[in-house]
Amino acid sequence: MKINFTDARPQDADVLAFIVTKTTFADFKFPLENSDIVRATAKLARFEGAAGQSFLLINEEGGKLVRIILVGVADGEAGDYQKAGGEIVAKVQTSGAKHIAIHGANLSAKAAAETAYGATLRNWRMDKYRTKLAETSKPTVETLTVASAPADASTLWPSYNAIAEGVALTKELVTEPANIIYPESFVERCKHLAELGVEISVLDDKDMAALGMGALLGVAQGSRRPARLLVMKWDGTGGSQERPVALVGKGVTFDTGGISIKPAAGMEDMKWDMGGAGAVAGAMKALAGRKAKAYVVGVCGLVENMPDGNAQRPGDIVTSMSGQTIEVLNTDAEGRLVLCDALHWVQENYNPEYIVDLATLTGAIIVSLGSEYAGLFSNSDELADKLTAAGKASGDPLWRFPLSKAYDKMIDSPIADMKNIGGKGAGSITAAQFLGRFIKDGVKWAHLDIAGTVWADKAGPVWDKGATGFGVRLLDRFVADNFEG
Ligand code: BES
Ligand code: MN
Ligand code: ZN
Repeated sequence: MKINFTDARPQDADVLAFIVTKTTFADFKFPLENSDIVRATAKLARFEGAAGQSFLLINEEGGKLVRIILVGVADGEAGDYQKAGGEIVAKVQTSGAKHIAIHGANLSAKAAAETAYGATLRNWRMDKYRTKLAETSKPTVETLTVASAPADASTLWPSYNAIAEGVALTKELVTEPANIIYPESFVERCKHLAELGVEISVLDDKDMAALGMGALLGVAQGSRRPARLLVMKWDGTGGSQERPVALVGKGVTFDTGGISIKPAAGMEDMKWDMGGAGAVAGAMKALAGRKAKAYVVGVCGLVENMPDGNAQRPGDIVTSMSGQTIEVLNTDAEGRLVLCDALHWVQENYNPEYIVDLATLTGAIIVSLGSEYAGLFSNSDELADKLTAAGKASGDPLWRFPLSKAYDKMIDSPIADMKNIGGKGAGSITAAQFLGRFIKDGVKWAHLDIAGTVWADKAGPVWDKGATGFGVRLLDRFVADNFEG
């Protein structure tokens, strides 16, 4: 979908959308021949400009029938324009319409850009595997014009577009099935980030064996697909930020559970067990795409968790790169095993001041938070507050959970340094405590358990059913607000 910003209405638009606040709706002069009828019809439908409220009618305009959409943004708060853009696209994406023109009363440049951003995010879908898509189900919209935009909107747009492209990469990686995206092909799909100035390096299974990454490799050993550690470095500071922010993602390209195998029903969902790694890749694309003035390193631990003659067994003891030993009591608690070596590696090699890891780590976080918030765990109030604020502002919200010595004790093992599962309760917290044992003193670290937010069973404001792209907007915002001066 091509995006334009102009101050006049394009001639060929076949959707005329109007974004109104509660106050502007009352006396908004719709630039339409039948302005009064549109207002009266909308009122009859009880449209009053509330946030998220929308209304579509078909009416004659300039001698032809056009779709007219009204969308409310209440008081025009941040985020509402994104949702409005998303709502407009959702309404007409497959309608046959080709060109959407959006008007708003006194749109700021930011509101205009955010509208186009929300529309672009919501427009993403994957049709490549449908060879028989009916004509009436095909997307038809080619162009979106924000037709009452101040000139500055076009200046703001490239940054928003870069973030949208990052989100799109994440959705793509998350949506692809596990026969297409596995550790090696995940790396291949990210190599184009080099064109944006991202420095890419990859450790293969032999490199990782030489480094002693026994925890990560223990998970991978049941799969025919060899493991990879993908490292993406973006430094937009010219060397002035000494220590980077590290982003670390769980990239289990398929999680059968291993020998502690999962039940068949719903196992297909485990193709998106690489959502943390997907978010890290998408965030790196967004940051590089908008040339963020920050130094950020993204690391993805990529493995497939399969049961096999060579798979690890419950009870096996592995030695992580940090030297700490782990009793693997459940091979389905594999994400922490992958992350612990990735976390240790990034601290040894990049000395980050902050680490944020993202992982579809526990089913328990879905019990706690459903799909509205992701879980946040941190050893630093400062970092937790910054992430919470970025979550709120970006539309990827976080809710903080506790960490403590008492929880930490629950993963002590009678035979090794720790076991990879806790007791009955607090499953998301004991998983986080496990990761915390691999964080060096003084490093500010946060763990985001995104198991509930990566995939949606129903459409949201800026995503359709399926992959949400969770994490990209959050991480972009976190970096923008705290590291770019
Ligand atoms: N990838 C799963 C967590 C998950 C479950 C994500 C459902 C999304 C939806 C993770 O590897 C896992 O299997 N965790 C176990 C841990 C348990 C064995 C301690 C879980 O949550 O059941
Ligand atoms: Mn698992
Ligand atoms: Zn998993």
